[in-house]
Amino acid sequence: MTPRYRAAIIACGHIARAHHLPAYRKISRVDFVAGADISPEIRANWESELGVPRMYADAVEMLEKEKPDVVSICCWPPLRPELTELAADAGVKLIVAEKPFAIDIAGADRMIAAAKRNGTLLIVGHQRRYHTRYSTAKELINAGAIGDVVQVSGLSGIPTRGGDMLTGGTHTIDAVRFLASDPPVDWVVGQIDRRDPGFTNAPVGLQQWEETGRRYGHHVETGAFGVIQFKNGVRGTIENGIMGRRAGWAALVYGTDGMIEIAPDQPSEGEPWVRAHIKGMAGWQVPEVIPNDPFQAEIEAALDVLEKGGQHPLDMYAAREVHLITMAIFESARRRARIDWPFEISESPLEAMIQAGEI
Ligand SMILES: NC(=O)c1ccc[n+]([C@@H]2O[C@H](COP(=O)([O-])OP(=O)(O)OC[C@H]3O[C@@H](n4cnc5c(N)ncnc54)[C@H](O)[C@@H]3O)[C@@H](O)[C@H]2O)c1
Repeated sequence: MTPRYRAAIIACGHIARAHHLPAYRKISRVDFVAGADISPEIRANWESELGVPRMYADAVEMLEKEKPDVVSICCWPPLRPELTELAADAGVKLIVAEKPFAIDIAGADRMIAAAKRNGTLLIVGHQRRYHTRYSTAKELINAGAIGDVVQVSGLSGIPTRGGDMLTGGTHTIDAVRFLASDPPVDWVVGQIDRRDPGFTNAPVGLQQWEETGRRYGHHVETGAFGVIQFKNGVRGTIENGIMGRRAGWAALVYGTDGMIEIAPDQPSEGEPWVRAHIKGMAGWQVPEVIPNDPFQAEIEAALDVLEKGGQHPLDMYAAREVHLITMAIFESARRRARIDWPFEISESPLEAMIQAGEI
């Protein structure tokens, strides 16, 4: 018999409402039972408008009373280690932590330790590799349509306004790793720009901007550029924020026999999700892409791992590598140096540079 899962969400803000709750409700083997949020308005709204059976002010009480098997942790990143520890220690089998993993590797390692001591499957929500535009492009690559992959460029952030690595850039790194076939890293080099992005009254993650200059509770840069040399020979590039050519997680893949363009989350009018130039074929080839819900797909894949074993491509080890690459871009800017692997750092060089008044 197919197992059933009791699912819950801790921190029921924008992403939880827009994507996690709808995803759980689409999965037939899941019963969505409860949420926890410190905001009374959100709790009232989730019960009355969204029909969630029970809402709690306190995550600990929710975990004790509801005993969920699956929990999404959709808080801001400074709180993620603490809330993940609570859920793992309460016996949750699958934790879907929103990205970024944490502010720094020290925070990510607290979460990994909690998952390990409890046997929890911990994934971090870089869902784009589950979007059919990315998986279709990867199928073309795997079929050899563009020969050997030489370079993958990930484009994100808003060129006119900014965008930071922790908020958007970790998605870009995960997408580049995916298209490069998740190879080990050889080295990373990077640079960042930090200027006033002029955020005012923006809706999410920026509620404290005017008082604290922080987004989602952490400092941000306004633009970043990174080169990732992978050990399989593929060169990755990350263009983010004011260094990004396009907003919305578009990507370009160059191979020895052609190239693939992947459109951003919101393509321009008439722009296909994926198009490819393939050696020996005239013009652009446009494969069929049927848009899906990548949040549902990442969770379904994790439930499959619980049931059948195997590795989830967004698991805590993959997410730690994404986080290390992010930290290496900051560290490269701090040291003005290429950062060679193996690389380890527990603090965030961005936070350290800002606190030291260096940038
Ligand atoms: N995967 C994606 O594509 C994607 C997109 C947007 C945001 N995110 C990430 O999701 C996370 C949340 O972002 P958001 O935009 O939903 O933020 P948000 O501000 O809308 O929601 C955060 C919620 O956390 C609640 N909260 C704070 N402390 C709490 C506590 N101790 N216990 C329970 N609830 C608590 C707040 O009341 C709020 O409702 C961020 O890390 C963000 O980067 C991911």
